[in-house]
Amino acid sequence: GRGGVLAGRRVLISAGPTFEDIDPVRFLGNRSSGRMGFAVAEAAAEAGAEVVLVAGPVHLPTPAGVRRIDVRSARQMHAAVLDAAVRSDVYVAAAAVGDFRPTEVAAHKIKKRGDGGLSLELTQNPDILADVADLPQRPLLVGFAAETENVEAYARAKLERKRLDLIAANQVGGGLGFEVEDNSLTLISADGIRHLPTAPKRELARQLVGVIAERLAGRAAA
Ligand code: C5P
Repeated sequence: GRGGVLAGRRVLISAGPTFEDIDPVRFLGNRSSGRMGFAVAEAAAEAGAEVVLVAGPVHLPTPAGVRRIDVRSARQMHAAVLDAAVRSDVYVAAAAVGDFRPTEVAAHKIKKRGDGGLSLELTQNPDILADVADLPQRPLLVGFAAETENVEAYARAKLERKRLDLIAANQVGGGLGFEVEDNSLTLISADGIRHLPTAPKRELARQLVGVIAERLAGRAAA
């Protein structure tokens, strides 16, 4: 509610996968369900924040009190996030942004020709976090790292390379991470590490919101 730990704060969250069209009926996507990001949006709203949720293509209801902006591709997500980031105290990047998109989108359904295969040329998508980090008055930056191995080492490297304030690392695969209800998170910042043991994503989101509120304390509102 209004008296919560994020009262008066503006929280921007991106969630879900991106879809990159190949032709009018096909796309490149990934297995992100959007659940973690939606849970963070819900928890932030419950903590009193004004929440903007930029959502990739997912089938999830909008949490109460959250302003949702639906996008499909990485470039659409980039534009929506950059637009809202300048007015945000914190940006939680929980989306699984596609790293590549087809260089050209075919205007018509691509047809088979004989027995041959098909080569797709891909172009790299913009790095949304990097561009938010370049803003003159950057919000507190919280990233996610979904890894299948060496979770902590990769997350630390990503924290530094992406100039994040906090990274939430989790193991994907083997019943954890994508497309599941439960998760565990390791929160890493320049000054410490904290393990949040396996719990429903909504519970982890509440704990993450608590950590974000602590880090925002003392910073002026955007
Ligand atoms: O995909 P990767 O593990 O590098 O993602 C790490 C973080 O960077 C995530 O928080 C993700 O939302 C963000 N990201 C981004 N723009 C991209 C790729 C990833 O903001 N193009």
